[in-house]
Amino acid sequence: MTEIATFQIGASEVNELIMVINDYSGYDFSDYSMPSIKRRFQRYIDINKISDFAQLLQDLMNDSSMVNNLIEEITVNVTEVFRDPCFFAAIRSDLVPQLNKLPVIKIWHAGCSTGEEVYSMAILLKEHDLLHKSIIYATDINQTVLDIAKSAKYSIESFKETEFNYRESEGTGKLADYYTVSNGEILMNEDLKSKIIFSTHNLVSDSAFNHFDLIICRNVLIYFNKSLQDKVLQMFYNSLTENGILAIGSKETLLFSPIDSKMQVVNAKWKIWKKKE
Ligand SMILES: C[S@@+](CC[C@H](N)C(=O)[O-])C[C@H]1O[C@@H](n2cnc3c(N)ncnc32)[C@H](O)[C@@H]1O
Repeated sequence: MTEIATFQIGASEVNELIMVINDYSGYDFSDYSMPSIKRRFQRYIDINKISDFAQLLQDLMNDSSMVNNLIEEITVNVTEVFRDPCFFAAIRSDLVPQLNKLPVIKIWHAGCSTGEEVYSMAILLKEHDLLHKSIIYATDINQTVLDIAKSAKYSIESFKETEFNYRESEGTGKLADYYTVSNGEILMNEDLKSKIIFSTHNLVSDSAFNHFDLIICRNVLIYFNKSLQDKVLQMFYNSLTENGILAIGSKETLLFSPIDSKMQVVNAKWKIWKKKE
């Protein structure tokens, strides 16, 4: 059987798709990184064996569920429990003493995906006796991943490597103490869940909504172009309390951004900064 050759997408088709998505969903992806969004569109085209671009545009205009599928493809949702364990070890050693001094700790996880990073943070806070005075806001553009995060339910398969990550993060107990297994699924403990407010927030178009002692936005800016990165970093800066802390992903940077000179490095390797006094 001969394989159907799929369409190879170029910059002008990327722009057309971005326009159609904007028209039909209101989401504006025009400031996402071109190489990254191009790869994601190509992946969608290859998976769905699309050979006719004009037909794809037509189908998208006729079927809003297809637009949603394409949006889900663009918003990469890869995450895991205690992802980059040494990042969490750095939080324990470098930030916990400062957080300990606060009467209330307000945290924002922007781009939280299915929530594993947020539950990891809640576990860490509990182990340092900080969870009771913490309020964690966790946001994402994608409602499907937020529904998973809110359910606090994960597959046993996805938790396979997590005990190792947890130990590497210098966890002081056993990860299994923070969830139960029921009907073949992992269910995170209620005391963790009750401290987290999950909601939709689009970093492209929505404004700041509170002041935070700690903002964590890892592996999200990497999908944006420089001008959108700068805009979002400025919003994070405006949303930080005095001495507030900003943590971004290991492949991301504040260098050359508008807030670079107003932040001081706390941990260069794990990309943790603090608002200068
Ligand atoms: C790779 S995941 C990162 C998850 C987690 N922070 C981590 O590092 O494991 C990127 C997340 O950013 C979200 N995202 C992408 N664009 C966004 C936007 N404009 N506003 C808010 N979240 C966005 C995606 O939906 C996705 O869940």
